[in-house]
Amino acid sequence: MTTTVPGWREYARKLAEKIAADGVLTDPAWRNALEHVPRHVFVPRFYEQRPAAGWVETSDDDTGRLEAVYSDAPLVTALDKTGDGNHVTVSSSTKPGLMVRMLEALDVRAGHRVLEIGTGTGYNAGLLAHRLGDGLVYSVDIGAELVRTARERLASLGRTPTLAAVHGAEGLPDAAPFDRIIVTCSVPSVPWAWAEQVREGGLVLVDVKRGVHAGNLVLLRRLEDRLEGRFLPKWAGFMAMRDTDDAPPTPRAGTPELERGTRSTTRLDPYPWTATVPWFLAQTRLPRRVTFGYRGAGPAWATFAGDDGSWCAVEISPGDGGARKVRQGGPIALWDRFEAVHQQWEELGRPGWDRFGLTVRQDGHRVWLDDPNGPHRWSLPPMR
Ligand SMILES: C[S@@+](CC[C@H](N)C(=O)[O-])C[C@H]1O[C@@H](n2cnc3c(N)ncnc32)[C@H](O)[C@@H]1O
Repeated sequence: MTTTVPGWREYARKLAEKIAADGVLTDPAWRNALEHVPRHVFVPRFYEQRPAAGWVETSDDDTGRLEAVYSDAPLVTALDKTGDGNHVTVSSSTKPGLMVRMLEALDVRAGHRVLEIGTGTGYNAGLLAHRLGDGLVYSVDIGAELVRTARERLASLGRTPTLAAVHGAEGLPDAAPFDRIIVTCSVPSVPWAWAEQVREGGLVLVDVKRGVHAGNLVLLRRLEDRLEGRFLPKWAGFMAMRDTDDAPPTPRAGTPELERGTRSTTRLDPYPWTATVPWFLAQTRLPRRVTFGYRGAGPAWATFAGDDGSWCAVEISPGDGGARKVRQGGPIALWDRFEAVHQQWEELGRPGWDRFGLTVRQDGHRVWLDDPNGPHRWSLPPMR
């Protein structure tokens, strides 16, 4: 598809207007980029999951496509199959409103040299190149085909930022130092290579996340011996960084054996997305990889399983009096640990993401409340 598709400019203008009306887009330079960089060139097809039909492809010829491409929504652009035959998303075009929120939070200015980790479709690299010029924009992705296609799309618009197919955890040392690093996949820990490649005073914006919903975007400033900064006030989520160009392996986790587990009850809701802060804090006390799932008809149970064989299941609908049944098994009582952290968070007055920060040193990560040197700090166990 080319930029000559009739009407795209009006769609792009309306998208910018919508994101501005939401209070997210305030910088005229990003508005200009949104209005001039054609998202449809970067998203010639995308996939939607439909209840009966599974993944369905929408491509250039479909009516209503421009409307979808210029909606403020994420669009899945690449699928792969895991060893067990399931389709998983390996790339997508981020929701434009979120991209703008990140670009504004990152305080990108004319003259900045920027590295993006997670090229995907190339659209964000296109926005950056429109604003900063090709020579100051670098973008990497682990997907060699994604990078090749993104480079072609950018070139079709006369744009030539530097793109490379590498593991983003390594950054791009030969092009460092950067003023800004923007990461559009989530990581369980911040690789030290990024601290080494951003100049002192420079910023890294990354989604630090362990397990579903347990983490958020954090804006880190490079100080002499560390990266340090606060989480963004509003929660957002990115797909996890993968280690190879293939579909990420299905996590191996203990299987909940409901009949054999210890029994208790809880008053807490089992959904991790209703309590993203305590679930993140709980990562300091849980096995390294905890996955979320469902069991039973309805479904009846929400399940959590750690890679150490620990598991728990929590009833989705509460019984009379508001209590939900809990079953737990394996080496660690996952739900008890989560409840203990949740209790601590309640005693602290249920602080939101805006009050938490992260300090990254070469030898470890520390989460803190309000002040890096204050009384409330948690060590985040290493992951990589
Ligand atoms: C949400 S998409 C990025 C969207 C992109 N910024 C855009 O504008 O289209 C996340 C991307 O992270 C990439 N990714 C995953 N693991 C990676 C890694 N280890 N290194 C670099 N990129 C990685 C995926 O291949 C995927 O394209």
